[in-house]
Amino acid sequence: MVQISKVLVAASVAGLTAAKKVFIDNDGLAPLQVLFPLLAGWEVLGISTSFGSSSTVDSAGAAYDVLTAYNLTSCIPHYVGAQQPLLRTQDTFDTWQSLFGELVWQGAFAPSYEDLYSWDNITYNDSVPGAVALIEAVKANKDTDPVYIYAAGMMTTVAQAISLYPDLVKDAAGLYIMGGYFDQQFAAGTGTPIVNDINTDINLMQDPEAAQIVLTANWTELYIGANVTNYLVPSQELYDRLITKAGGYSVLEENSYLEPVLNLVATGNYTENTSEQTLPFWDEVVSAFMVWPDMVQSTTNFSVAVDTQFYSPFYGSLRIWGSEFAPKGQITGNATIVNKIDDSRFYDLLVSTYFMDWRQYCEVGGPVTLEGY
Ligand SMILES: *[C@@H]1O[C@H](CO)[C@@H](O)[C@H](O)[C@H]1NC(C)=O
Ligand SMILES: *[C@@H]1O[C@H](CO)[C@@H](O)[C@H](O)[C@H]1NC(C)=O
Ligand SMILES: *[C@@H]1O[C@H](CO)[C@@H](O)[C@H](O)[C@H]1NC(C)=O
Ligand SMILES: *[C@@H]1O[C@H](CO)[C@@H](O)[C@H](O)[C@H]1NC(C)=O
Ligand SMILES: *[C@@H]1O[C@H](CO)[C@@H](O)[C@H](O)[C@H]1NC(C)=O
Ligand SMILES: *[C@@H]1O[C@H](CO)[C@@H](O)[C@H](O)[C@H]1NC(C)=O
Ligand SMILES: *[C@@H]1O[C@H](CO)[C@@H](O)[C@H](O)[C@H]1NC(C)=O
Ligand SMILES: *[C@@H]1O[C@H](CO)[C@@H](O)[C@H](O)[C@H]1NC(C)=O
Ligand SMILES: *[C@@H]1O[C@H](CO)[C@@H](O)[C@H](O)[C@H]1NC(C)=O
Repeated sequence: MVQISKVLVAASVAGLTAAKKVFIDNDGLAPLQVLFPLLAGWEVLGISTSFGSSSTVDSAGAAYDVLTAYNLTSCIPHYVGAQQPLLRTQDTFDTWQSLFGELVWQGAFAPSYEDLYSWDNITYNDSVPGAVALIEAVKANKDTDPVYIYAAGMMTTVAQAISLYPDLVKDAAGLYIMGGYFDQQFAAGTGTPIVNDINTDINLMQDPEAAQIVLTANWTELYIGANVTNYLVPSQELYDRLITKAGGYSVLEENSYLEPVLNLVATGNYTENTSEQTLPFWDEVVSAFMVWPDMVQSTTNFSVAVDTQFYSPFYGSLRIWGSEFAPKGQITGNATIVNKIDDSRFYDLLVSTYFMDWRQYCEVGGPVTLEGY
């Protein structure tokens, strides 16, 4: 249980604290992606939601649900980011697949995709697009507390922001992304559909041009959470821990605050669920190592670029080189790729964070004890 510091909150109102700050862009916000930074004492300056694995309205709806469920709407602004890739279209996505192979996971480009949400039921700050809100957040804090940017979906919103304001890359503390797999061809080729799915680098493939702009920009630091995010996954052991902590499966069904936990454990039987509920904790993993860097156990630095040739089977894939072997004839970026984190610490934080009460966060600046836990 984290101690709430009312003193800290008062100071933050007066603009005196040095709480680290992050702006998050995503195409399907997960609760812990936001709650982990808050638990670490970071300030979430804004969330923008973009097209990608979900349609724009569904991305906005998912974030709206998280912010509403945890009563965070009054202190974490929500904007809408990129509503389409820079260059990619449904047609070119489909044509490319017919040339180079169909993807199991096609996100909002899937032919069968149907919106779940309607704009009528979502409120967000529509005064500026996500890219502009991101720029404002970075500019406002550049001299005191440079902002971290976490892009967990397509890189489009960040690419738009760089185009509008190139100094973004030096005024921000750094960029963290989820996505940027490499050496995945064997796994994708030999695996079941779900293995193919989790080895598809959709975040970059849906907008290769934006990814190339963003990943080759001169960031102070650039962290890529790729392979590592695929190995932190649900399991029966984790389900059992969550159910035991709740005080039984029926408690999860009855206590609406614990609905996100119920969604995670589904029936409570891991083997019964092979799809959504058993996907890796992709976005949550990157949030965790961003705010608790001491959790990182192994990294490698690479020169990186994204293949932007349409007539390539690797269009939209990350390419990596040791810096001494990096091509000279094209722009490359410098990235730190995280290989391994402290898994058990991650799962411990996952369990404990869900059983804290976040609904007073905007008032008291931290979680409080959840009644009964
Ligand atoms: C909005 O939410 C209400 C109640 O939660 C529901 O009855 C209604 O169908 C929703 N409207 C749309 C357009 O989704
Ligand atoms: C919406 O965002 C703009 C730009 O960041 C800000 O000036 C405005 O106060 C926000 N509106 C609300 C209602 O929070
Ligand atoms: C990148 O940033 C460093 C440090 O600010 C600077 O020395 C270097 O010239 C920059 N490189 C490019 C390509 O802008
Ligand atoms: C990458 O690092 C090298 C060596 O420190 C530097 O010269 C170059 O400007 C960096 N490039 C980018 C895009 O950050
Ligand atoms: C990816 O992660 C797995 C599990 O941590 C590890 O066995 C494998 O060597 C990693 N592959 C690469 C290319 O880092
Ligand atoms: C979980 O589901 C599988 C497949 O339906 C079944 O074989 C197994 O007995 C179930 N386990 C428990 C603990 O209910
Ligand atoms: C999870 O398991 C339940 C019961 O078998 C099933 O109804 C549900 O569709 C499963 N969910 C997924 C995403 O597979
Ligand atoms: C890797 O890059 C990071 C960020 O630029 C830097 O702090 C670190 O020293 C580099 N590590 C190695 C081993 O070069
Ligand atoms: C939700 O947050 C608002 C604003 O901070 C606060 O006034 C209200 O008491 C909170 N609601 C709950 C259920 O904690």
